[in-house]
Amino acid sequence: MILSIESSCDDSAISITEIKTKRLLFHKKISQEIEHAVYGGVVPELAARLHAETLPKILAECEPYFTQLKAVAVTNSPGLAVTLVEGVTMAKAISVALNIPIIGINHLIGHIYSLFIEKETIFPLTVLLVSGGHTQVMEVKSLTDIKTLAKSMDDSFGESFDKVAKMMGLDYPGGPLIEKLAKNGDRKRYNFTVPLHQSPLFAFSYSGLKNAVRLAIEKATPEDYPDIAASFEHIATMHIIQKLKKYFKTNPPSNFAIVGGASANLYLRDKIEDILKPYNAKLFLSELKYCSDNAAMIGRVAIEMNEKRMFTTLSGLDISAKSTL
Ligand code: KG4
Ligand code: ZN
Repeated sequence: MILSIESSCDDSAISITEIKTKRLLFHKKISQEIEHAVYGGVVPELAARLHAETLPKILAECEPYFTQLKAVAVTNSPGLAVTLVEGVTMAKAISVALNIPIIGINHLIGHIYSLFIEKETIFPLTVLLVSGGHTQVMEVKSLTDIKTLAKSMDDSFGESFDKVAKMMGLDYPGGPLIEKLAKNGDRKRYNFTVPLHQSPLFAFSYSGLKNAVRLAIEKATPEDYPDIAASFEHIATMHIIQKLKKYFKTNPPSNFAIVGGASANLYLRDKIEDILKPYNAKLFLSELKYCSDNAAMIGRVAIEMNEKRMFTTLSGLDISAKSTL
């Protein structure tokens, strides 16, 4: 079995996966959303303190598995440096105490493997990752052959929902709240510009849209918020749709997946389904409970990396806020 730890942002999570069967034997996640909600976003120092409190509590529940552990895995990049350290330090201690190897896991690869929890992998796959930290399109051929084709130049898709929610005085995380508000709104009322619609770049940008929404909110009353939310969600989604449509013209999709916390957004899912239809492409989604950050996805990557003996040494396991992907 492998014990895997996730602490890259505001979720403390630990999983136990069985190497041979890929079964998820244990998974527990403690989210900090309530603690960060008052600040309208994640406060890194507070997040780190909460991980220091909750990770040992979850670990205590894993004690019955300790004697059967063959490796310990941990997210070491990308994420908030101060929160990554919490998981990595715990993993190092477990590695020394139980004399088992350690596996450093890229959180973004974790999101890709959230598709394959207790399942076999499916490649090649075109992946759209939409989370609080990332908006990117990747061509994935295997664990070690992942090419990033497009990234956000500034804010991410999920982050823009969080910021719009904050401007409307709503809680963190804003994604689900904006989606709910948008359901009763008029998507056409606010004519926001689709970011980079005239640019040939295969890239994303959400800071301009966020500013346009801010100006609209300043002139609006709360009765207008559903229309603003709906128009914003429409344009934020159209930005991704326009870029993907263009990419598909030269790279027709066959297997396409949406992963990451914001892949829970039904409007985005619907619009992507529409553009996949002409290609008869298959759409893959993670189970809803594994869209947002969790340790089950880290445990699934760990099984693959363990098989390939992709271990690191204690001193070689560094954290990195930025991803190499
Ligand atoms: O993957 P995740 O849990 O954390 C990161 O790795 O960043 O993603 C969290 C992000 C937050 O920004 C949240 O607002 C967004 O995903 N999100 C959504 C929805 N549900 C979560 N964004 C739009 N629509 C949603 N339904
Ligand atoms: Zn994530």
